[in-house]
Amino acid sequence: MLANWKPQRNPFTLGVASGNPRPNGVVLWTRLAPDPLAPGGGMPAESVAVEWDLAEDAQFSKGLRSGRSFAIAGEGHSVHVELVDLPPDSHWYYRFRAGDAISAVGRTRTAPAADGSVDRLRLALASCAHYEHGLFVAYRELGEADLDLIVHVGDYIYENAWGVDPVRRFGAPEPMTLEDYRQRHALYKLDPNLQLAHANHPWLFTWDDHEVDNDYAGALGQDRDPEGAFLLRRAAAYQAYYEHLPLSRAQVMQGPWMRLHDRFVWGQLADLHLLDCRQYRSVQPCRPPGQGGSSNLAGCEARLDPNASMLGAAQEAWFYNSLSNSQQRWNLIAQSTLFAPKDGDPGEAEVIWTDGWDGYAANRARMIESMRGKANPVLLGGDVHAHYVANVNADDGSTIASEFCGTSITSQAWPQEKIASELPANPHLLLGDGSRRGYVAFDLRPGQLQADLRVFENVRDRNARGSSLAKFAVNDGKPGPLRS
Ligand SMILES: [Fe+2]
Repeated sequence: MLANWKPQRNPFTLGVASGNPRPNGVVLWTRLAPDPLAPGGGMPAESVAVEWDLAEDAQFSKGLRSGRSFAIAGEGHSVHVELVDLPPDSHWYYRFRAGDAISAVGRTRTAPAADGSVDRLRLALASCAHYEHGLFVAYRELGEADLDLIVHVGDYIYENAWGVDPVRRFGAPEPMTLEDYRQRHALYKLDPNLQLAHANHPWLFTWDDHEVDNDYAGALGQDRDPEGAFLLRRAAAYQAYYEHLPLSRAQVMQGPWMRLHDRFVWGQLADLHLLDCRQYRSVQPCRPPGQGGSSNLAGCEARLDPNASMLGAAQEAWFYNSLSNSQQRWNLIAQSTLFAPKDGDPGEAEVIWTDGWDGYAANRARMIESMRGKANPVLLGGDVHAHYVANVNADDGSTIASEFCGTSITSQAWPQEKIASELPANPHLLLGDGSRRGYVAFDLRPGQLQADLRVFENVRDRNARGSSLAKFAVNDGKPGPLRS
């Protein structure tokens, strides 16, 4: 441990972030990396001491609190400061110091008290940021927006290069080791728009597949490497994920596992249930022999198997408990992918994608029944690189919940002709549009949830500005989004 380490160069190249806001605190993050893309980030082999400041103003003159934390060598010299003694519903500025170096200033807040009367929550839903597919102009808009919270539902990084006409390059092969994943996360964090979005708002997270490997399922990778080998890779990816995000100590890895699913309360207004759709799932049904990953196919009876699970039995039970215990007016259920069914065949056949909830239909049906009669369940998702707005219906046809699945920050989508051609066979899908990249901005009040589907004409243009594709509302007590 170096108690008085003096950096020769700025070690705060990856910015600052905050996350997991609770009524009594929030997690502050940075990672020391004077040479961010080099092995070890250009840091000495030892852990080093880091100071942090928290204040009510950006000049750090009002209500200043300071403390000492550590950039731990075994955690990539990341710093996670978990504050637990702040007042609810309070706003803060923060920064880090190491020697003479001072980080950028971040802005964050705590959640309102669980029994507090809250009249508003402004929240943004983001997913799927392929670095090579576009510039992070949507993250810039998020950084500049007036928000309480950003919820990221997965594909925060991508491990693989795919798609057409890259606007920039990873400059490295697909990551396999901890050092590889650290470098990939560092590359992302060097993006100034992503840094801005992190610095200005607290975030909540769940992941999808690309934080590790395309279409992985539990302990099995896409390429069917032996289970043990994939678990090692998954552990490396999870570790790097922890090191680069403002996650809590409770999320430190336990062997190859990381507990990510969680519940966050926003006063009497909302409960946010975050689900992990990757770590515990059973293998996608109807995999052709010798093939990994997912497929689009018809006639897959195994997708109805009640033992097939997207969440795993323990998390599923946890969710039902979490939902039953909720006292809040709205239940926002953030998970990785499109929740409502989607038949990809315009004609008689029913073609489904086995990686999504359609591959785990019994698990989904149980989830829907658990939401019946609960206070305003709203599903939030991503993964499919298109805006979808849906009625979530039970088998008896009644609408139980509302769904907003956001388009990608940058990742490329299916042609809009294909997406549009699928809609008539899926009347519960009120909108499906993958023509543009963006995110969803929500304004939640006790009586109504408003959703603004944001889009950018061209994410290859660094000056692109967002606009509204469509607006929907959900009224208290009446499941089902209405176009507004
Ligand atoms: Fe994605």
